[in-house]
Amino acid sequence: MKAADFVLKNTKQLKDKGVVHAQAPSNIALVKYWGKKDEQIPCNPSISFTLSNAVTKTALHFEKTKNPTSEFDIEVYFNHERKKSFEPKIINFFYRINQYVSFLNNYQFKIYTENTFPHSSGIASSASAMASIAICLMEMEKTGTDDMPLEFYNKKASFLARLGSGSACRSITNSVVLWGKLSGYRDGSNLYGVPVSPVHPVFQNYQDSILLVDKGQKPISSSKGHELMHHHPYANQRFYEASENAIDLLHALIDGDLDSFIKLVEKEALSLHAMMMTSKPYFILMKPDTLQIIQHIWAFREKTGLPACFTLDAGANVHLLYPKKHLSQVREFIQSELIQYCQDGQVIHDEVGQGAKVLS
Ligand code: PMV
Repeated sequence: MKAADFVLKNTKQLKDKGVVHAQAPSNIALVKYWGKKDEQIPCNPSISFTLSNAVTKTALHFEKTKNPTSEFDIEVYFNHERKKSFEPKIINFFYRINQYVSFLNNYQFKIYTENTFPHSSGIASSASAMASIAICLMEMEKTGTDDMPLEFYNKKASFLARLGSGSACRSITNSVVLWGKLSGYRDGSNLYGVPVSPVHPVFQNYQDSILLVDKGQKPISSSKGHELMHHHPYANQRFYEASENAIDLLHALIDGDLDSFIKLVEKEALSLHAMMMTSKPYFILMKPDTLQIIQHIWAFREKTGLPACFTLDAGANVHLLYPKKHLSQVREFIQSELIQYCQDGQVIHDEVGQGAKVLS
């Protein structure tokens, strides 16, 4: 599908007033998106696990305005309190998606959001937040459209979410999602995420224990990091390698090949951080305790032969990934060896989930 296919056509009258509730999860990239062009178009394909417990819940209240203008009328509330500092990001998001959901100027919006994971835990909430707002807008659009096929609904929700925050497009549906064009993979698109399905059963309830090494604000935002890939000396090689890794990872996910999965996922995490360390200006988001945890994971894997591995987001926290059947041994390992490196001893236990949903 092309971007033009998502422009709203032939809608019947939408409701004058109402509220939509939805929730969307965070996701953790296995092959990393780092570098973008044009309007949120990724420079390489990425693949993620959708999470289950780390979600944003959003209530979108809308009421038809008497005097529509070209400005947007939006108030954002976080944990029931007005959060004016979040509003410019949402307004910018609305400007980007306005041509695809052209009813936005006709309404006053009040957006109430809350996260199930602790605020300032170092877990980015932009993916889950943007995906949950995109679902709310699709619910509004659906009421004015006869027979919207589910496939179109999910693609457009992902398309809109992407324009809010790139990785958000992978938080709409399915447990494993590919975003970006990939040779040999017919469905892959730069415009929205597509399900990778079926994957081997071992991955369907894979565990992700998020070890919170540093809960503070990141010194360099993801937006800045993406921008620094523009003149990065290793950018082209990185984009090429990420595509190769994506192809290999798809095979590992389908075959249940845990050895290849581990090698690819850890290499991707370190490659992402290698890009940061070789940007101009260079920067490091890992902390000494990030490296301590990685060393312990490697030693644990060597000693026990259990398929536990790590990945990293754009931050210091470590995501420890493992099959559910090893949950008790890995949780014991976390308690005895890793918890000492987590800020305030905090770990968030999550697992692969199914995506966003509308709440009644
Ligand atoms: O969606 P953004 O712009 O916040 O970028 C996300 C970048 C990474 O989390 C580091 C990688 C990814 O693919 O999610």
